[in-house]
Amino acid sequence: MALPTHVTLLDVGPRDGLQNEKQAVATAHKVELVQRLQAAGVKEIEVTSFVSPKWVPQMSDGAAVMAAIERRVGVRYSVLVPNLKGLEAALPTRPDEVVVFGAASEAFSQRNINCGIEESIERFRPVAAAARAAGLKVRGAISCALGCPYQGEVSLDDIERVVRLMKSIGVQHLGIADTIGVGTPRRAQAALERALAHFPLEEVSGHFHDTYGQALANIYACLELGVHSFDASVAGLGGCPYAKGATGNVASEDVVFMLNGLGIHTGIDIDALVDAGAFISGVLGRAPVSRAGKALLGKRAAS
Ligand code: HMG
Ligand code: MG
Repeated sequence: MALPTHVTLLDVGPRDGLQNEKQAVATAHKVELVQRLQAAGVKEIEVTSFVSPKWVPQMSDGAAVMAAIERRVGVRYSVLVPNLKGLEAALPTRPDEVVVFGAASEAFSQRNINCGIEESIERFRPVAAAARAAGLKVRGAISCALGCPYQGEVSLDDIERVVRLMKSIGVQHLGIADTIGVGTPRRAQAALERALAHFPLEEVSGHFHDTYGQALANIYACLELGVHSFDASVAGLGGCPYAKGATGNVASEDVVFMLNGLGIHTGIDIDALVDAGAFISGVLGRAPVSRAGKALLGKRAAS
């Protein structure tokens, strides 16, 4: 199949990235990150999560962040919700999309959301119904689809089982996540194919962490399937508090650089994206993890 001509990038940095920071990040800095991402042309942004502040204190200012961002027409703002309590907190903040997050591995489900897979789906069922009734889009994320830090191997049938369950409760878009970054290209394709068996091409996305340096190769492999939606994180921010040792998501700058080289349109200005990555990395007191970001900043400094 010919590669897609256009890719939609969802930047998960403000949520998946900043949820993992040990240091407190000021609400104003979170807001500025979102503003910079949308100014760079990012059309989908995962802004925050409405989860228990005891579990993930870094996201406890979610409502304040949502209230302070200046919304742009054509940008979709999403938030994670693990249960009805989270949805009730999220609704007044006017997200466009809510994300329910399950796992392909029982062990990870227990560690991340304190319940097994079946029970998690039963918790998500009323969340999905209420969100759709409120006119919001519902995305489902399946963590640890390519490997689990507690259980190790995850089978394709395990993935497909959760894909089916997500579909059965009214999830409209499905993201397959390699939370610990162990996936390799053929395996990534096989995982996405299990999602594509139940969801249309435009409603399946890949979410790859770069722990083992495989994320861009995995994205390319998914492009070969025609998949044209991917999550990425500016400056390579991220990890997951319940997946020790997992490094950040693939850096948005690296993905855009590769897609630009392939002639695939994203609508994102890579220079402005690099600036957004430099901004948040400066806030965190470190260099951007993005290889393309570092190279482009170096080139600028030299010229
Ligand atoms: P629990 O302790 O089993 O739930 O947590 P509970 O219902 O017994 O509630 C315990 C306390 O939390 C209660 O407060 C609740 O009110 C409160 P208390 O009575 O003790 O004062 N609570 C809440 N507070 C605010 N918002 C809520 C909420 N729910 C309960 N929504 C729960 C279960 C799911 C809540 C918990 O395990 C949790 O919040 N987990 C969050 C985990 C998380 O955010 N993980 C990171 C995101 S997933 C991820 O990063 C992976 C992904 O990006 C893909 C990838 O990267 O590969 C998606
Ligand atoms: Mg992630």
